Amino acid sequence: MTDRNLIDMAAEVMQNSYSPYSEFKVGAAIECADGSVFAGCNVENAAFRVGVCAETAALAAAVSAGHREFKRIAVISEGSSYCFPCGMCRQMLNEFAPNLEVLCARADGRYVSYPLTSLLPMAFGPEHMADTGSRI
Ligand code: THU
Repeated sequence: MTDRNLIDMAAEVMQNSYSPYSEFKVGAAIECADGSVFAGCNVENAAFRVGVCAETAALAAAVSAGHREFKRIAVISEGSSYCFPCGMCRQMLNEFAPNLEVLCARADGRYVSYPLTSLLPMAFGPEHMADTGSRI
């Protein structure tokens, strides 16, 4: 799976975006450790504060299918600037994959790549709860 393949999958699922309020379509495709890929789009709601980002939708689909280890995620929007994951999605991704590679693409398919550690430095993660009796 090349970066381009993963971005193409994100672009395809972006077409299913339910975003009548922002009119900002986003798609994401996350690659699991075994090479399988799960995709997700943003899903908005009439109660504006309620909604799911594409990255979280893709991650939830993968975790729901039993995956817990991830290598890369591609994110794309219809915009002319690179689509970076929001802060909440960075935190969601960090839970499972602090070493994730994040491909941030724009409508024309060009992209930039960053390690999640640079997008969410000094992240709070499950390891910080290890000695508190949490069941992780
Ligand atoms: N959105 C995503 O799905 N992912 C991002 O990385 C940025 C923002 C969505 C949330 C909302 O549906 C719309 O884009 C506008 O913020």
